[in-house]
Amino acid sequence: MIPFINIRAQREAYKSEFLQAEQEVLDSGCYIGGPIVQAFETELAALTGAKHAVTCGSGTDAITIALLALGVKPGDEVIVPDFTFIAPAECVMRLGGIPKFADIDVETLQISPESIEAQIGPMTRGIIAVNLFGQCPDYKKIKEIASAHGLWLIEDSAQAFGATQNGQSACTFGDISITSFYPAKPLGCYGDGGALFTHNDELAQKIRLIANHGSSTRYVHEICGMNSRLDAIQAAVLRVKLRHLDEELKKRHENARKYDEFFANYNAGIRAPAGAKIVPQKMADGNTSTYAQYTVLAEKRSSFIEALKSAEIPHCIHYPAPLHEQPCFKMFAQGSENNNAIKACKKAVSLPMCAFTDVEGIVEMLKKV
Ligand SMILES: Cc1ncc(COP(=O)(O)O)c(C=O)c1O
Repeated sequence: MIPFINIRAQREAYKSEFLQAEQEVLDSGCYIGGPIVQAFETELAALTGAKHAVTCGSGTDAITIALLALGVKPGDEVIVPDFTFIAPAECVMRLGGIPKFADIDVETLQISPESIEAQIGPMTRGIIAVNLFGQCPDYKKIKEIASAHGLWLIEDSAQAFGATQNGQSACTFGDISITSFYPAKPLGCYGDGGALFTHNDELAQKIRLIANHGSSTRYVHEICGMNSRLDAIQAAVLRVKLRHLDEELKKRHENARKYDEFFANYNAGIRAPAGAKIVPQKMADGNTSTYAQYTVLAEKRSSFIEALKSAEIPHCIHYPAPLHEQPCFKMFAQGSENNNAIKACKKAVSLPMCAFTDVEGIVEMLKKV
């Protein structure tokens, strides 16, 4: 069976580099924080152009830390996309805040600025925008809305480390931006990991404090924080992968082009049965994507999935339900008439995608079914 994401092939490709980097950490006696984590943070900041990069325990922790640093209080409303992974809304609710669900653009599948504006009320404090499947939403418009209404912006770039919008790097659009190093992400480690980015010195200081038990001097706890730190061994793995990120992103782009070409012909009627149109997520002008997912909207999803199964091509559904329909958010669902998010949940299918995916082979198999 073709792997959905071929992490094992990636390990094989850089194995000697990984073994050396891992051994150095194991021999160092320094397993949490320390010089390797510091060096990785410096590299993250340099690569994105963010003034500060602070690592932490996961992407979910990063969102929680960002919300705490921005001072979210019980009852505060925070606007999140309705069509995404649960983490942004979950973190808001965990701190007693109220997630308000905004709809998405029907083609790019990114949070819609118009829908954000429609959700703003007297209790709104901020926006969490997600770079869904690896490309950015319209940050020019979102930032204009945020500043017109005095709201802060968190950029959730869990899926998009390495993406750009009009030449600007992802992870630099928010007051605080975050990413995830979950193993399946475009830049993933061998466990959980995450990072926060900001240009603001004061926020950077708060972030470091919160992530380390509210402490900057040992056993002095200025605020009540949490334990969220990156292991040195994960930083070592990530530093190896960072060296190969550019070439991997190029391969991801080539793979996406091969899928795009196949589906353009498919839609021209060569293979598609009537009404079975398949439309890939649209790349907005000015964006480059990490293709964390290559996701299509299939008009007749169940028959497309049957075709994938018969060709033994794995798939995932990102995401089967809009967040406002999740049992844990039902009490916040009112006012979430998000038709585009609802439609996307019925049609979305993600196909195998990484730098080591043989998309030509997949396309050949698809042509036979
Ligand atoms: C958009 C988004 N935000 C946040 C997260 C959470 O990241 P983590 O799994 O590292 O906690 C994910 C992970 O899948 C994600 O896709």
